[in-house]
Amino acid sequence: MIERREREGPLMKNSPQSLLISRIITTVIIGVLAGCIIVFYFPNDFFVSQSITSIRHLPVAVPKTQENSAESESSDRVNMLKSEFVALLSDKNAELKKQVRELTEGKDQAEKKLLALSKQEKAGPFGTVKALRTNPTVAPDEFLNPRLANLLEKIAVKREIIVTLANSNVKAMLEVWFTNIKRVGIPNYLVVALDDEIAKFCESNKVPFYQRDPDNDIDTVGKIPNGGAVSGLKFRILREFLQLGYSVLLSDIDIVYLQNPFDHLYRDSDVESMSDGHNNMTAYGYNDVFKDHGMGWSTNVYTTRIFVYNSGFFYIRPTIPSIELLDRVAARLSKGNAWDQAVFNEELFHPSHPGYDGLHAAKRTMDIYLFMNSRVLFRTVRNDANLSKLKPVIIHVNYHRDKLPRMKAVVEYYVNGNQDALKPFPDGTPR
Ligand SMILES: *[C@@H]1O[C@H](CO)[C@@H](O)[C@H](O)[C@H]1NC(C)=O
Ligand SMILES: *[C@@H]1O[C@H](CO)[C@@H](O)[C@H](O)[C@H]1NC(C)=O
Repeated sequence: MIERREREGPLMKNSPQSLLISRIITTVIIGVLAGCIIVFYFPNDFFVSQSITSIRHLPVAVPKTQENSAESESSDRVNMLKSEFVALLSDKNAELKKQVRELTEGKDQAEKKLLALSKQEKAGPFGTVKALRTNPTVAPDEFLNPRLANLLEKIAVKREIIVTLANSNVKAMLEVWFTNIKRVGIPNYLVVALDDEIAKFCESNKVPFYQRDPDNDIDTVGKIPNGGAVSGLKFRILREFLQLGYSVLLSDIDIVYLQNPFDHLYRDSDVESMSDGHNNMTAYGYNDVFKDHGMGWSTNVYTTRIFVYNSGFFYIRPTIPSIELLDRVAARLSKGNAWDQAVFNEELFHPSHPGYDGLHAAKRTMDIYLFMNSRVLFRTVRNDANLSKLKPVIIHVNYHRDKLPRMKAVVEYYVNGNQDALKPFPDGTPR
């Protein structure tokens, strides 16, 4: 934030932009006019090089007559005038160059401002205006990580990829994870292997994996068996994918894939995430009325609520707001023992307020019946004759601790059609 302000500083002094442009145009006009005058008065001489001109002033075997001396006098004056013009022109040239340099230095900001100016348009009639929500993607920076760039070049589809992080603690779940991805026929997925055992496991199962450079200091953090550290790492690694110009569907390991999620995305926002909500209201936003009985006539106090986004399954486009989000979350996680999902949501949703600049990112909540959390499945869907007929895209067993058996039951239910597969499980995992 601070850095950006500093970079904008010098440009602000030069603004308005139009003043700078008009100065350049004036300079160019003066230069052209001067050129015209010179060409008019000295049609043959001006562009002749200095050496040729001096030859003409070599003493020649002509008797020095009155006429000759007059000619030589006027030719001296002409030379003086010429050099004045040349000096004037080169001054103007230097000035012009300086201004061009200034303009180039502030090019980024200048471009942005010019773009904003040129796009300025009047608001259309009532009901027709629509704000920009699909931010432009960043220019890919392949030199950042050529090894990862090469890998992604091979396996990503339309510059999109599913990414998960796994260490050997989650080996069994990882197997369910990639087995279902393969069964659905999704080619563009990648396991970031956090230890050698998982890398070997992926290799022997022909699962695309990526191991970070062991010399990289972040990698040692990834080896600490601590959920918080792995979570922080997740956001740092994600940044590289985005910087390389790829959209990432970040996936936890406790997810069963039943359809290809890339067929069900909107791609209009920086972040498109599954929700921890369990119905339309909680997932998509609602008014929660707070009662303040001491207030009499205004006992009802209205609040705007939404259940949190699930930071274990979201699609993130390679845009500046997205990268800023990752940086903000990673920076806060590095400071202390915060829960990454809480931080992720706070950074996404808290508005700017005194002492705080909120993130300006576009967000979209995924359909809760297509991108289904395990609370929706076990508390609602399996008991609802209509909802249980729907075919979700993924099931995320995020609300339960007995993850592996529930993942297997989900496969039994949705893939093998065993209507009783979900029945043995209580709504929640017992404490
Ligand atoms: C929930 O939201 C979906 C999508 O907006 C809509 O089609 C559906 O009718 C809603 N269901 C209820 C019960 O309001
Ligand atoms: C299922 O859908 C039918 C037809 O839309 C409706 O009449 C019925 O009430 C629904 N059942 C449940 C349990 O929501």
